Amino acid sequence: MPARPSASRRTVLRGAAAVPVAGAALAACSPGDDGEASAGPTAPVELGPESEVAKGGAKLYEDEKVVVSRAEDGSLKAYSSICTHAGCPINKLEGTTLTCPCHGSEFDATTGKVVHAPATEPLFALSVKVEGGRMVASPDA
Ligand code: FES
Repeated sequence: MPARPSASRRTVLRGAAAVPVAGAALAACSPGDDGEASAGPTAPVELGPESEVAKGGAKLYEDEKVVVSRAEDGSLKAYSSICTHAGCPINKLEGTTLTCPCHGSEFDATTGKVVHAPATEPLFALSVKVEGGRMVASPDA
């Protein structure tokens, strides 16, 4: 008996296997899977007690997609924590430096500015105010 049937089956399997791999790679690179969240909050969001952000420090609110920093004079600044490179939510804050998990862009949480490529645009600025001791960030800066 010739071995032909198994050879043709192998060809079919190889063809089928290539499709899911390509699909996964595309999904991983597509910016902002949830679309609306790509610029951060679209309505005012309550963050937490203002005492959580020390002078000269910053705090990342991952669920709200906001980072807040406080200057030495006590003033607060807030930015969307959605990376401006391809829309990944930033999940790491060390000191006042934010690092994006997708391609390694870094941002200064006190200014929103890019400190490490590939991102080139600063983080989207939010306004922040304190109501009853709790911070509220809004996209109307
Ligand atoms: Fe590419 Fe953040 S999405 S570095």
